Amino acid sequence: METSSEVVLTGCDALADDVRRGLQRSPKRLQPRYLYDALGSRLFEAICELPEYPITRAELNLLAAHSVAISAGVASPLTLVELGGGNGEKLALLVVALVDAGVDLRVELVDVSATALELATRKLARFPQVSVAGHQATYEDGLRRIARQRAAEGRAGGMMVAFLGSNIGNLEPSAARLFLVSIRAALRIDDRIVLGTDLVKPESELVAAYDDPLGVTAAFNKNLLVRLNRELGANFTLDGFAHRAVWNAAESRVEMHLESLRTQRVSIPGSGCEVAFAAGESIWTESSYKYERAGLVAWGTDLGLARHDQWVDEEAGFAVTAFDAVGFRPGSSPS
Ligand code: AVI
Repeated sequence: METSSEVVLTGCDALADDVRRGLQRSPKRLQPRYLYDALGSRLFEAICELPEYPITRAELNLLAAHSVAISAGVASPLTLVELGGGNGEKLALLVVALVDAGVDLRVELVDVSATALELATRKLARFPQVSVAGHQATYEDGLRRIARQRAAEGRAGGMMVAFLGSNIGNLEPSAARLFLVSIRAALRIDDRIVLGTDLVKPESELVAAYDDPLGVTAAFNKNLLVRLNRELGANFTLDGFAHRAVWNAAESRVEMHLESLRTQRVSIPGSGCEVAFAAGESIWTESSYKYERAGLVAWGTDLGLARHDQWVDEEAGFAVTAFDAVGFRPGSSPS
């Protein structure tokens, strides 16, 4: 595998600083990316198997059923980019459709996790005619690098960028918008973006998806405290905090919190601080924004992305939307 390693990823210092700053805020906050240490990543894989969490299954079904339509009309040769795809299973569905359509394909994978890049590359090894490159980088850096290479090589043809798994839902709306702007900036006219997004649905379903009866999501959330104990020498007691999942309808997001069950002080030597918790006070660990079908299309239009098509799993409440790059005039409708 060709893996570039230009980008330095989150180290212990970044964690220590972010934790100190995040726990001084009101409300207290920790960034969701810290949920994914080795155990956290495994727990997330287990979440994807839960009957209450339909996102992964719904997206796989939509890609399996519509991969030909999703990739219809793309130019050959094609650079297919996946941002943070995990194990490559979903990407392989698109690759099959493209290879069957005779598209001359190269795949570029972008992920901060070397393990994810390795897994996805292995998954794609069954397509010997497809060249695969991995970029261990943040999405923005990886995409910029790929666009630069494409320009430097004078590469003809199209590009299709897949951002799946409702990962965009973990970004604040302003950050999500900026992120889409940065993807759009890496594209040429007629290139395509394929976006997987979870949709607004009844509160009971949303809460069950993030507070499952087996307690897997609770373990995923509380593992963050285990991580801070291990990596920063903190003394969080796990039975002093409870997992909470709350649907915030006004903001259209499910929030995950760790709620302190009593008044307590926690020492975090690696961050050089001690933190006081009131009973009932919580650490906000993740937001998972849910979208409306039409809102997604309008959002794209505003950023120079015209709807190619949209496929929805109505039962699961999940959408895959494909956009084509048109004139880039953020804040106005494309001509
Ligand atoms: C990775 N991300 C899209 C998941 C989500 O649904 O927001 C993370 C997750 N958190 C709790 N369950 C799953």
